[in-house]
Amino acid sequence: MGDVVRAPWNGYFVTGFDTCNQVLRGRDWLAPDLAWQERQEDRKQWEATATREMTTTLARLNAPEHTCQRRSLGNLFDRSTVERLTPDVGHHVDRLLDGLADTLRRGEADFVPAVSEQLPISTIGSWLGIPPEDHPHILEITHDQVFAQELLPTRSQLDVSARATVALRAYFTRLVAERRAEPRQDVLTGWIHTWDAMEPDRRRADEILYRLTMFVTIASLETTATLLTSMTRLLTEPSRWAWLREHPEHVDAALDEVLRYDPPIHINTRIAAEDTVLAGVPIKKDSMIHVLYGAANHDPRRNPDPHVFDIQRGGGHLTFGGGVHYCLGAALARLEARTLLTRMLERFPTLRTASPPEHAPRMVFRRITSLGVAL
Ligand code: HEM
Repeated sequence: MGDVVRAPWNGYFVTGFDTCNQVLRGRDWLAPDLAWQERQEDRKQWEATATREMTTTLARLNAPEHTCQRRSLGNLFDRSTVERLTPDVGHHVDRLLDGLADTLRRGEADFVPAVSEQLPISTIGSWLGIPPEDHPHILEITHDQVFAQELLPTRSQLDVSARATVALRAYFTRLVAERRAEPRQDVLTGWIHTWDAMEPDRRRADEILYRLTMFVTIASLETTATLLTSMTRLLTEPSRWAWLREHPEHVDAALDEVLRYDPPIHINTRIAAEDTVLAGVPIKKDSMIHVLYGAANHDPRRNPDPHVFDIQRGGGHLTFGGGVHYCLGAALARLEARTLLTRMLERFPTLRTASPPEHAPRMVFRRITSLGVAL
């Protein structure tokens, strides 16, 4: 249907790899921020509590606010941090695979609740200092909150999301306050010092700290869980699994092919900063541009025979976005997936998918709720 396709509202879907890339990286395209929402005729559509709260998070800010907040976090997962976190992630993986092995001895196991959902919360939880007893609560409210980031949420989904938003605010505001009262040698204490030095208004500093801590946490959970499940589903096909066991040097390439083939996030929206033309289509200022990551990754001009899963294709993908909003946690997600895959290849030579994945009915965040595996 073309690189730029009209949506049945004030927006366009963008499908081609180069056109999506251009939108993600270009200065003519902005995040749909609060100022844009205020300018919309159908302002009411954006007034739901959960929607407004998400509009104040990092992904929905533009310069100069975005630049300032993003700089305050620095390069979260640079090479030395990833090296430092590697043993910790390894411990979480071993513990979860011990539990999985116990279940597999008795028969089929559901990989999603047993492993995919647990590894991201264990990892981010120990990095940010979220106590393990709170992990189930955080997982639950994150799943509920995500509806507000969907393309066309229903009123009842927005109500579920609103309750989750209130719970997330309460939880992360308290976490910041507790760390302020009892500083540690950890990343959150570092952010508190940074913001206290940058922002004389303590209430505003705490508000930004809440938003950053909450958003980094929720951004890291479902996305990584979906990658871990898709990875297991796609790679445990018996001939691929056997081949990867013989060629563990291709583990990173296999992960990139999983990321290309079935991205955890399918849609990201930008708006036109001015009247412009995109791939020959005139676009009016403030129109929404929905970047379709899956379609970009499956563009045959970029990845020939895109529907063939080929570990050695060396193709490109936009699964972590691009430009100034490029995913801050890509290196952590890769570390978790690499560690898990490597150890599963070693421990479970005959691991296979026993029942097909079940997907939540979503468009933007492609959550997989269940995947049966067996030996
Ligand atoms: C497979 C796992 C993940 C996927 C597929 C993913 C994907 C994305 C995408 C598509 C974006 C938007 C980029 C853009 O607008 O151009 C993004 C932004 C972001 N991601 Fe991830 N992500 C993953 C894991 C993580 C993890 C583990 C963390 C944190 C530890 C994280 C933190 C963030 C943050 C904070 C942003 C907002 C950056 C900004 O707006 O400046 N993500 N991610």
